[in-house]
Amino acid sequence: MIREGFEVKKITRDEALKLIEKYVKDKNMKKHLFAVEAIMKALAERFGEDEEKWALVGLLHDLDYLETKSTFEKHGFRAVEIIKEEGYEISEDMARAIISHASHDGWEPKTLMEKALYATDPLTGLIVASALIHPAKRLSSIDTEFILKRFKEKRFAAGANRDQIKSCEEFGLKLEEFVDIGFRAMLGISEVLEL
Ligand SMILES: [Fe+2]
Repeated sequence: MIREGFEVKKITRDEALKLIEKYVKDKNMKKHLFAVEAIMKALAERFGEDEEKWALVGLLHDLDYLETKSTFEKHGFRAVEIIKEEGYEISEDMARAIISHASHDGWEPKTLMEKALYATDPLTGLIVASALIHPAKRLSSIDTEFILKRFKEKRFAAGANRDQIKSCEEFGLKLEEFVDIGFRAMLGISEVLEL
């Protein structure tokens, strides 16, 4: 809905950060968003895709997390709604990616960007848990091999859906490479992640 005197702007990273401040009060969820942003940017680079767009999708994908905790059927849809209500324009492919990461029937991830977001979402939790189980509790003290070993331990960080992570193979990445890209991207922002 466009009201008179109400300008619709294309959303930028700075604007996205303002929305996160307003809607995502949970510190760990904010860190998750920054981690997914970093990995999506790295994946876009790997595939020669639009890094800015992929990063933004990662940054915004759980914007509605607090609002849809108990109404999961609205997850993703509400995030897109919030962005529009706040007066920003969001492209159709970005909106679709945000909605399709939430496993709604009929909204299966189809494009490369959608599939990348879907697989990345649980990867950050696995990497964080892997760092925390190490005595040093730092990303810099683990490596990709360490995370791959933890991946195989089904009861370790069981909330990090292994099938969803492994769906990286559907867009042409072996698990080893996917985890490596994710780990390096998160290591690059370890200060932000305080890890
Ligand atoms: Fe997420």
